[in-house]
Amino acid sequence: MKKLIGPFTQILPLTDLPLKGSLRDEQLHIIPQGGVLVEDGLILAVDDFEKLRKVNQSADIEEVTGGSVLLPGFIDCHTHICFAGSRAKDYAMRNSGKTYLEIAQTGGGIWDSVTQTRNADEAVLADLLLKRVQRHTAEGVTTIEIKSGYGLSKDAELKQLRAIRAVADKTTASLISTCLAAHMLPKDFAGNHQEYLQYVLNDLLPQIKQDGLSNRVDIFIEQSAFNTSDALNYLAKAKQQGFEVTVHADQFTTGGSEVAVKARAASADHLEASTGYEINLLANSGTVAVTLPGASLGLGMPYAPARKLLDAGACLAIASDWNPGSAPMGDLLMQAAVMAAAEKLSAAEVFAGLTSRAAQALKLNDRGILAKGKLADMQAYPCADYREILYMQGKLKPTHIWTADLF
Ligand code: NIG
Ligand code: FE
Repeated sequence: MKKLIGPFTQILPLTDLPLKGSLRDEQLHIIPQGGVLVEDGLILAVDDFEKLRKVNQSADIEEVTGGSVLLPGFIDCHTHICFAGSRAKDYAMRNSGKTYLEIAQTGGGIWDSVTQTRNADEAVLADLLLKRVQRHTAEGVTTIEIKSGYGLSKDAELKQLRAIRAVADKTTASLISTCLAAHMLPKDFAGNHQEYLQYVLNDLLPQIKQDGLSNRVDIFIEQSAFNTSDALNYLAKAKQQGFEVTVHADQFTTGGSEVAVKARAASADHLEASTGYEINLLANSGTVAVTLPGASLGLGMPYAPARKLLDAGACLAIASDWNPGSAPMGDLLMQAAVMAAAEKLSAAEVFAGLTSRAAQALKLNDRGILAKGKLADMQAYPCADYREILYMQGKLKPTHIWTADLF
């Protein structure tokens, strides 16, 4: 059954924006008094509402009253929301002067979340995850990437990935899982970094493939985690097993984004420490640069050089990094808006970074813009001018959210 939704004061379909490089707001195509025709979860047409109504007289009408601006649903291409417990004490310690790495070295940090996640029952973990997914969806995020990485053993990583799959059946949002078993060397592993990565390659990844739990692999390249040569080898082998790869790169020190480009990773995420050298490498590659302002806000650190990445020609996506340690807030729009003010990003750059360019980071070609044949993942904001959305710095929330599954 065809459904016509509208009229919207403005529709921003975000079509025709180049996938790489800087964007001006003048490049945003706006359809005034627009409507969207949907059937079986896919968009059939985006056009003037009255025009669509005249030629589709049999379509069901879902009337949207009041001023509203329609955007594609946001795509959060980097989260760690499958976890148990809290790290509020880490946050307090950081704010009393301890560094992220010092806290990790004294038993806090990622390992604390690993312990709490390992101790959580699978159903409890799924329930915690479902609540976070529901909160994100209500804020207009219709596709959510979710990493494991708080298990760090075969059984516990599989438990996390099964919890993500269980929640995927309970939400209309799309959940994309990623195996981040290479988040750090687990403290209870009897062996070194290389032996651990070999164990993941031999014992865990084949099981993930067999159970259809994920087709993506991530690694944290950092002094406290894995080095560049081990990572390059690991990513090459994961690719041989058929996984798409992505990297936590240049968060505190550089090296990671160069590995990401060499490994032809889908994305290099973080980039707070990236210099001109890494910016150029990324800009001249097919690897999406993902900035994570939530981690900068959570750690009280500078943002990744988003403006420079765009000006150099990179494809820049913006994600929340929502996790219990460095980015506990999880409000993607607020983070993107606040970073945009500091980094001087146009609305076109922010919206593309939250939609079409984030879709590219996940290699999803079926979403991220409002166009014929794309998924009907959409959100409407209670305002008459799209500029209100970033101006309110995340406090203006969508009043309507549609996902393809609803139709
Ligand atoms: O992306 N950088 C490594 N991993 C996460 C933090 C995870 C944690 O602190 O629990 C991140 O910031
Ligand atoms: Fe992360």
